[in-house]
Amino acid sequence: MQLTFEVISENKLEVCKDLCNELMTFQKSVAHIRPEIFDNMRYETRLVPSVKNAIHNYIVVVKDGVTPIAYMYSNISSKESHSNEFATFFDLDSVKNKNVGNLAQFFIKKEYRQYGIGSKLFSMSMDWLNQFNDVEDYFIYVSNGNENALEFYKRKGFAVSHEILDGFITVLRR
Ligand SMILES: CC(C)(COP(=O)(O)OP(=O)(O)OC[C@H]1O[C@@H](n2cnc3c(N)ncnc32)[C@H](O)[C@@H]1OP(=O)(O)O)[C@@H](O)C(=O)NCCC(=O)NCCS
Repeated sequence: MQLTFEVISENKLEVCKDLCNELMTFQKSVAHIRPEIFDNMRYETRLVPSVKNAIHNYIVVVKDGVTPIAYMYSNISSKESHSNEFATFFDLDSVKNKNVGNLAQFFIKKEYRQYGIGSKLFSMSMDWLNQFNDVEDYFIYVSNGNENALEFYKRKGFAVSHEILDGFITVLRR
């Protein structure tokens, strides 16, 4: 393995396209509550609009040689942007600041898991989010059936806050 961790600018976002689509396919495959919701979710409908709507973005791609094998996407965005036509992700009154941090997308190709790549990307995300002194609330949204990710985030210090959309998503908070 010849791994490199690359912070990419928004105009190179397309490097993540296939990995983002793989993440959606993976999430659908493990979901037992309303998996069909994922049918409309792909790079163009999830990653591109998130990056456009956020205030600050942090995108890291891991490559093995020249091949992208993992990515992590985190952002800072207004708390209001977490209440939209799809869902209200948390009680806006429970956040006293204007903006929140979000580890929004995270995917490591199957054959590269359990080597510490996820832990490294997770800590890069937290280091980046922690720079913003006016942000105190961090969220991660895990779709149903993804127990592995849920346990991973709990081990890293996040706690389950609540479920939304009849259990389709579990909201984790720190
Ligand atoms: C969840 C996910 C990001 C974790 O990534 P990962 O690279 O497998 O995570 P790590 O290897 O850092 O850690 C997983 C476990 O592997 C083991 N591990 C880590 N490094 C290891 C090493 N060098 N040797 C042996 N085992 C190791 C540890 O048990 C670790 O558990 P810990 O958190 O208690 O340390 C990854 O499984 C994934 O991409 N899943 C599919 C997509 C997904 O669920 N995304 C999240 C959407 S919300």
